[in-house]
Amino acid sequence: MRWLQVLQLLALLVFLSDAVEITTATAVIRCNPPARGETTRPVTNQTMSTGSSFEYQCNVGYECIDCNMTATCLNTGNWSIPPPNCSRMDCGPLPVGVNTEGISDEYNTKYLDYYRYRCLTGYTTNDTTVVQCLASKSWSHPPPTCHVRNCGTPANGTNTKPIPGNIVTLTDTTTLMNVQTDTNQILRLQ
Ligand SMILES: *[C@@H]1O[C@H](CO)[C@@H](O)[C@H](O)[C@H]1NC(C)=O
Ligand SMILES: *[C@@H]1O[C@H](CO)[C@@H](O)[C@H](O)[C@H]1NC(C)=O
Ligand SMILES: *[C@@H]1O[C@H](CO)[C@@H](O)[C@H](O)[C@H]1NC(C)=O
Ligand SMILES: *[C@@H]1O[C@H](CO)[C@@H](O)[C@H](O)[C@H]1NC(C)=O
Ligand SMILES: *[C@@H]1O[C@H](CO)[C@@H](O)[C@H](O)[C@H]1NC(C)=O
Ligand SMILES: *[C@@H]1O[C@H](CO)[C@@H](O)[C@H](O)[C@H]1NC(C)=O
Repeated sequence: MRWLQVLQLLALLVFLSDAVEITTATAVIRCNPPARGETTRPVTNQTMSTGSSFEYQCNVGYECIDCNMTATCLNTGNWSIPPPNCSRMDCGPLPVGVNTEGISDEYNTKYLDYYRYRCLTGYTTNDTTVVQCLASKSWSHPPPTCHVRNCGTPANGTNTKPIPGNIVTLTDTTTLMNVQTDTNQILRLQ
């Protein structure tokens, strides 16, 4: 009776050690590093065990909307999902500047695309006129504000001088100025 119990115990131990070996063998299945997609960042260079998960990340300036980014290492040794296909971020339509020329129809609004604003003829600006679509998904600068070009005070002529404050700005951006002369003529300056 006692011997029988010992034998049963031994058999159980053998069975258990087999089971442990089987468990170990199952856990040995690992996934190779997940593939790097064309639009995803480099992946960790490590094999991973079954059940562990990996988070894909888009390249800078790219995004994947409503994508499943989490891959799980399956017990087949494969990852549950392939790398996502991320797309270039889009900064959207350009805001309109003040006194700038109309924005041409053909312009691109995606990551790293840029656009150069132009002032209307006769207008100028010190603002940055080149804006670029950034990885923050927004344009690098606000649109410029252009001001009427100021020619400064006209020079004195021979026997003529400008009358201070007598400058008239016209809508066609030509500036007229009364200049006192011997004959009170009006000079047209451009
Ligand atoms: C990954 O690691 C192995 C061994 O550490 C190395 O031989 C191999 O070049 C590495 N691969 C990359 C892509 O870094
Ligand atoms: C695992 O991936 C290999 C190719 O890498 C493929 O041949 C095999 O069918 C895949 N297994 C499963 C279960 O998808
Ligand atoms: C992502 O895919 C895995 C299978 O690969 C799934 O288990 C998980 O629920 C999915 N997540 C979402 C948010 O769809
Ligand atoms: C990404 O695009 C490739 C090629 O069109 C396709 O085979 C793959 O299934 C796509 N991946 C996903 C996650 O949709
Ligand atoms: C631009 O800057 C220059 C020098 O700093 C200044 O004289 C000029 O008035 C500025 N022009 C505009 C449109 O702000
Ligand atoms: C023009 O002449 C006036 C005097 O009549 C003088 O005060 C002014 O400095 C002159 N301006 C220039 C630009 O020479």
